[in-house]
Amino acid sequence: MSVQVDVAEYVSTHCTPPDELLQELVVRTREATGGAAGMQISPEQGVLMGMLVRLTGAKRAVEVGVFTGYSSLSVARALPSDGTLLACDVSEEWTSIAREFWDRAGVSDKIELRIGPAVDTLRALPAEPTFDFAFIDADKESYPAYYEEILARLVPGGLILLDNAFRGGTVLDPTNDDPGTVAIRGLNDAIREDSRVDTVLLPLRDGIVLARKR
Ligand SMILES: C[S@@+](CC[C@H](N)C(=O)[O-])C[C@H]1O[C@@H](n2cnc3c(N)ncnc32)[C@H](O)[C@@H]1O
Repeated sequence: MSVQVDVAEYVSTHCTPPDELLQELVVRTREATGGAAGMQISPEQGVLMGMLVRLTGAKRAVEVGVFTGYSSLSVARALPSDGTLLACDVSEEWTSIAREFWDRAGVSDKIELRIGPAVDTLRALPAEPTFDFAFIDADKESYPAYYEEILARLVPGGLILLDNAFRGGTVLDPTNDDPGTVAIRGLNDAIREDSRVDTVLLPLRDGIVLARKR
């Protein structure tokens, strides 16, 4: 076993563990979606997201890429009672599981689900700063568009999280020309040079970029 694998295991076993409902969601996702279950964020990512929502006092959040709802549940639970989460996805099937778990967690009132290509959903929103927290975790080739559309609608001091910054390590291989990898590699570089934000790339799981709007 490599040191890297040991560290990842050690990290995941030294973060607040998921409660019963989240554990059930993990099992249900595996049973209902099979191989697609690998798309679910990890429990430690969920803890980080909830912690960041609480630390920043975020009230208006947006998520691109809901799947069966782990990340949206983590965010919605951390929002204040008058907080809102705009949740974007293309799948009725996968988000029906999310809706069930939002209900059971008592956070459905905070979440508005919009089904459709997220670029269209975001572009249809007023082009003014309203969001203070965002999570991007959908089709990788569209990340640059999601980043720009959300940044334009983020208040100063607002935070964007982008998952899969490493793309399984493929961003480090300059010969890898998979379109998703090329998009993420380019965006990681662009955010580093973007004077509109301060940024840090956390090596948690598949890498999470945090970008705070100046
Ligand atoms: C990696 S999964 C999201 C995982 C989720 N954040 C979680 O915590 O389990 C990616 C999701 O993006 C959605 N997706 C793919 N293309 C999309 C698009 N163009 N617009 C909106 N959602 C999209 C997929 O349906 C899928 O549910």
